[in-house]
Amino acid sequence: MSVPPPVTRVQPLVVRTRAALRTALEAPAGTAAGAPEGAAPSGTAGPRPDAPPRTAARAVVMTMGALHDGHLQLVRAARERVGPAGQVVVTVFVNPLQFGPDEDLDRYPRDLDADVALLAGLDEPAPGRPAVDLVFAPSVEEMYPGGDPIVRVTSGRIGTVLEGAFRPGHFDGVLTVVLKLLHLTRPDVAFYGEKDAQQLLAIRRMVADLNVDVEVVGVPIVRDDDGLALSSRNAYLSAQERADALTLSRALRAGAAAAAAGQGGAGAIEVASGMLNEHPGVVVDYLALVDPTTVDDLEPEYVGPALLLVAARVGSTRLIDNLAVDVAPPVTRTARPGGTQ
Ligand code: PAJ
Repeated sequence: MSVPPPVTRVQPLVVRTRAALRTALEAPAGTAAGAPEGAAPSGTAGPRPDAPPRTAARAVVMTMGALHDGHLQLVRAARERVGPAGQVVVTVFVNPLQFGPDEDLDRYPRDLDADVALLAGLDEPAPGRPAVDLVFAPSVEEMYPGGDPIVRVTSGRIGTVLEGAFRPGHFDGVLTVVLKLLHLTRPDVAFYGEKDAQQLLAIRRMVADLNVDVEVVGVPIVRDDDGLALSSRNAYLSAQERADALTLSRALRAGAAAAAAGQGGAGAIEVASGMLNEHPGVVVDYLALVDPTTVDDLEPEYVGPALLLVAARVGSTRLIDNLAVDVAPPVTRTARPGGTQ
């Protein structure tokens, strides 16, 4: 009996500096993994003189690390989109600019080796091709060499409602780093999760309003079998808190069912908030039914597609979730002719 040779997978190339990123991006697909870190001298990096012009598409998936299957789903969608000849770039950066002073910046989980191992374990798009060509994992100093940036992107009204009302400045910080990462990675297409629906909307608006030349693709929420939306912050939850956290997705589903059954937007909120309030371990920041394209409030009589969003604290962990809802016309009771009431 012969022992099969060990499968040696092509690993994604991990780069930590803007200069190394620039060099690696110019390498033809399939060769990046061989390029040494910092191949070009810092600050003077440019396309290698022998690099052929790049024709295949490039996709980017931006993350703060602590990767889970939700992130991996974005990567799969990105690879699916650009094909084996395309380039898939994943960025891993915990962006201080988007955390408030009392938030979890310091305790946010960071494990780049584990993240790279997960990415390396994804199915290869073709023999000898990694699912992810390049991981860009810069330090804070590399991303903000002059300290906190003076010029930033403002998210306008989107940044002051819902998540923005509870996390002042959060979306300005997100959009500023997203725009920087788009400039640094220069993708044709960028993938973001619908889990962060307001973030996705803010990014779409920035790209449209500032004429950023990239296609933005939203990817549906990945959930555990029991319905809990995957999140890097789920790692903070105790067993009891994780059980309590299930109330979020359950309440959203119950609200969506009420809206679909003709109980209107107000009925959906009533049903969902009733379920959330039954659980003392869940402290709701907001529960709202909004226009899915603007996050504007809806008229009381609104009928049509909507988005039901919730943010709540479970113990010291803040979780968000959302669900698309179809608000059906109200069910009106009609007296049957000749019938008795
Ligand atoms: P992070 O929370 O790491 O999420 C990275 C991307 O993964 C986001 O687009 C997010 O919506 C998506 N994602 C997270 N959980 C998901 C799930 N369960 N299903 C589907 N997609 C999911 O969002 C950020 O980082 C940052 O704000 C960032 C955009 C990287 C800017 O710093």
